[in-house]
Amino acid sequence: MILAWIRIIVYTAAAAVPLLLCPGCSTPVSRDIASLLFDGVPALPVPEKFCASWMAEKEAEEKLARQKEKGPAPSGSSHPPYAEKKCNSCHDTSKEGGLAAPMEKLCFLCHKDIIKGAEVHAPAVAGNCLACHQPHDSVFPSLLKTEKAKLCDSCHMEKRLTTGLHASVSKAGLVCTDCHDPHAGNAKYFLK
Ligand code: HEC
Ligand code: HEC
Ligand code: HEC
Ligand code: HEC
Ligand code: HEC
Repeated sequence: MILAWIRIIVYTAAAAVPLLLCPGCSTPVSRDIASLLFDGVPALPVPEKFCASWMAEKEAEEKLARQKEKGPAPSGSSHPPYAEKKCNSCHDTSKEGGLAAPMEKLCFLCHKDIIKGAEVHAPAVAGNCLACHQPHDSVFPSLLKTEKAKLCDSCHMEKRLTTGLHASVSKAGLVCTDCHDPHAGNAKYFLK
């Protein structure tokens, strides 16, 4: 008799284990306990399997928490004057347009040497930096507006003179900036 009670207590406690591990799971536990009491030895589900969705949710939460601790994702970027809250180095409400200098001159205030070489890329030399960059921060490296592999395609949809060459390098997994500087250079087509 005492043995039987010990067995019931042990089985009931065992049945509660997945419950403890998985507070978010809504399994009909009462039925399980009933089956323990009346059907003898139960087949307990593996907690991980039992609560796959709860485990996945918890893992995602932990990942997010770790990421928050570390700051922005490693591939992202943040502009130092923005991160250091030197907002006034670019924003000036007393000026027309609200910027410290007209947009096409603003980035050159600090990046004086970004255009180096005899061959220059039209959007960069014109100061249209925001065609490719974000001013504050980005989920991509180098404050880019989009993935490096897609950046140039937004404008360069023209049929290339060198279509054969370019088709083969794209297939090889190279991106435009592996060969071309995005801003300027001394070689024709600002090849690196
Ligand atoms: C390197 C220059 C630069 C710095 C530093 C900078 N901004 Fe900006 N910000 C810009 C530019 C350029 C735009 C206009 C973007 C556009 O037209 O798409 C802008 C746009 C904005 C806007 C308009 C909404 C938006 O996001 O497009 C807000 C608000 C703003 N900035 C706030 C700030 C604050 C707050 C800081 C400091 C923490 C800051 N900025 C620092 C250059 C800068
Ligand atoms: C107040 C000075 C200042 C202004 C104005 C400024 N920058 Fe910067 N920028 C910096 C500094 C400082 C760095 C970090 C050192 C470096 O890379 O030169 C930087 C770095 C960058 C980088 C490299 C970021 C990276 O993660 O590699 C880019 C891209 C950039 N700036 C674009 C711009 C654009 C676009 C503008 C105009 C909207 C602009 N900057 C205006 C100061 C400035
Ligand atoms: C056609 C797109 C494009 C334009 C326009 C452009 N950039 Fe960039 N920029 C890039 C790319 C792509 C990179 C990253 C280069 C790399 O990783 O090889 C970059 C990198 C940078 C960097 C990081 C340091 C370096 O030299 O690589 C700075 C600073 C920068 N750009 C500033 C500017 C400024 C200022 C302007 C406007 C005068 C501008 N860019 C216009 C595409 C552009
Ligand atoms: C905002 C639009 C824009 C983006 C984005 C852009 N370009 Fe350009 N690009 C131009 C314009 C405009 C010209 C000048 C076209 C001309 O002179 O016929 C040009 C010219 C060029 C040339 C010289 C072509 C020649 O015949 O002299 C090369 C090479 C080039 N771009 C490469 C790139 C690369 C690499 C990227 C990505 C990093 C890029 N471009 C992104 C607008 C863009
Ligand atoms: C493997 C290196 C390499 C890569 C990657 C590359 N290019 Fe080129 N590109 C060249 C060379 C070399 C030339 C010069 C060909 C010539 O002189 O006939 C050139 C020329 C150009 C020209 C001017 C001549 C023309 O055919 O119109 C443009 C525009 C251009 N590339 C854009 C791009 C863009 C956009 C990408 C990304 C999709 C890219 N390139 C990727 C090597 C490369």
